[in-house]
Amino acid sequence: MNKKPYIVANWKMSLDKISLERFFDNMDWENIDLEKINVILCPSHVFMCKTRNQIGDKTIGLGAQNIFWEASGAFTGEVSAKQLVDVGCQYVIVGHSERREIFHETNEVVNLKIVQALKNKLKPIICIGENFEEKENGLTKKVIEEKLNEGLQDISPADMRNVLIAYEPIWAISTNKDNTGQADSPESAQVVHKYIRKLISGLYDVRIAENLPILYGGSINPENIEGFSKMDDIDGVLIGGASKEASSFQKIINTYL
Ligand code: PGA
Repeated sequence: MNKKPYIVANWKMSLDKISLERFFDNMDWENIDLEKINVILCPSHVFMCKTRNQIGDKTIGLGAQNIFWEASGAFTGEVSAKQLVDVGCQYVIVGHSERREIFHETNEVVNLKIVQALKNKLKPIICIGENFEEKENGLTKKVIEEKLNEGLQDISPADMRNVLIAYEPIWAISTNKDNTGQADSPESAQVVHKYIRKLISGLYDVRIAENLPILYGGSINPENIEGFSKMDDIDGVLIGGASKEASSFQKIINTYL
């Protein structure tokens, strides 16, 4: 991996005012060279402004975990891309498997959200991955291809410069019902990442594929990060559970420094 790696914290519906402050207090920011890595924090919407304030003038990215697909209007309870940009958000996770499964988001919905994000200069981190049954049935590549093809419908080559992909095998996510407590192996994730790059190269071109950050997510922790950090096509990680505590997040970051 030659690119500046991405280390993304997906805090999901965790952290509150106190634990968020504690996270920032306990991180050893002084010893993190933010020129070398891209750190992105994705709090719940309600803590977006607080996280922005905690970040201060550090070059740390701020990301949301979801947006609505319409630009504005009477959509009670939803949050628009424009509103997020207004409070300093630069990234948004789109198509996370929890949203696909629990909130029934289809590839079509994911595509609408990607379009809306890009229109507002929010960089989408698009999650794709297979579930346990699909993996067992040898359908990983097929599922990945479908999610990419449909998710990236009508996304222009120019817009692809602002897209990130996260390969998240659903069975490997630490809170998934099929989880065995295990991340994918770095070697087998590398194979899928390489395949994603090949697909992007076919959909767009080789240069876009080479420049595209492809992150891995699923039970990343301080013990297994090293293997992933060494893989050619794994440009960083999307971390759930291990991103909530400063101590484990710091250790993961240190691996890349
Ligand atoms: P995990 O979550 O690191 O807890 O497996 C990753 C994710 O769901 O994005």
